[in-house]
Amino acid sequence: MSLLWQSLELRSLRLTNRIVAAPTATGTADREGVATEKGLAHYGGLARSGVGLAVVEHHAVSPEGRVRVSQYRLDRDDVVEAHRALTAPFREAGLPAMVQINHAGAAVRDEELRLAEGFRTLAPSPVFHPALPGVLPRALTKGEIGALPGLYAEAARRAVLCGYDGVEIHACHGYLLSQFLSPLTNVRTDGYGGAILSRARILFEVFEAVRSVVDSDLPVAVRLGVADTLPGEEPRGLTIDETVRVARELAALGVDLLDLSGNLNGYDGRGEAWFAPYSRLVKEAVPVPVVCTGGIRSALTAERLLREGVCDLVGVGRPLMADSQALGSWRERLP
Ligand SMILES: Cc1cc2nc3c(=O)[nH]c(=O)nc-3n(C[C@H](O)[C@H](O)[C@H](O)COP(=O)(O)O)c2cc1C
Repeated sequence: MSLLWQSLELRSLRLTNRIVAAPTATGTADREGVATEKGLAHYGGLARSGVGLAVVEHHAVSPEGRVRVSQYRLDRDDVVEAHRALTAPFREAGLPAMVQINHAGAAVRDEELRLAEGFRTLAPSPVFHPALPGVLPRALTKGEIGALPGLYAEAARRAVLCGYDGVEIHACHGYLLSQFLSPLTNVRTDGYGGAILSRARILFEVFEAVRSVVDSDLPVAVRLGVADTLPGEEPRGLTIDETVRVARELAALGVDLLDLSGNLNGYDGRGEAWFAPYSRLVKEAVPVPVVCTGGIRSALTAERLLREGVCDLVGVGRPLMADSQALGSWRERLP
């Protein structure tokens, strides 16, 4: 029997197969941070995609935490009602849907946002982000770092009110928590910088704050940036050995799912399943289900990754973004 179509339980959720719709920012939010008609149509389609779990794209936890002006947001109570229209199709289809919560840190992509009056581009340290060499962020004060867990927890509380079945904390792709993890963007000398478990301290604090507000029957996941370089490259910045230590600590804190991707280097690679070597190392180290994403394009590849012990679930991003029914043929290829 194929492993791809086997179910998996995450707290009270039952995933009917091992495919995860990876979070992909669709550019379909309005300036208030809620879905346009296009957004509702996209996620309505995704609810009928046949995946086992959907992770809805990153939502900002605070106004300064936005990546773009028109980004989905969970930074205030008055978005909750509108977001219920987005979660409704998932409930109707019986497909578990988690939502990703994020703070951009230095990685604010829209100039309009960066130049807006009173807007502050914040980061662990005042160093250039490799993806945004022209923007020198201001270092977060200790007081501002102390406020971060509360921002993520409030966003998570709202996510549950919106009807989501769980929350995923975004800690990869060069956004704020990923900036803390990397020694290239975190040169702090207080308890939030230095050795890896200190650089990860804010992630642990955010996780605990989020876990404390999400109902105990619902899962909390972390999308963890595993390294600043791809497998096979000369290590620079955050390394996979360091990430294994972070993963062990998150497992001890009770994380329900580790969704793996790149750190400052983003989500792209070459060939097929480019993060598989990293995923295998994390899976071997922790008793927590692991998702491997990036360049997985066929049912046979997905099945092989599961069979070889690389991961427990496979993530699919761009194919589902382009066509929410793209995986229809996977069942025929691998009954
Ligand atoms: C346009 C676009 C937007 C993305 N937005 C997000 C996001 O909101 N959160 C996230 O964690 N990853 C995001 N990603 C990364 C994807 O989740 C995924 O890891 C990546 O596309 C690699 O998988 P794929 O080869 O199957 O597309 C995005 C990727 C793309 C192409």
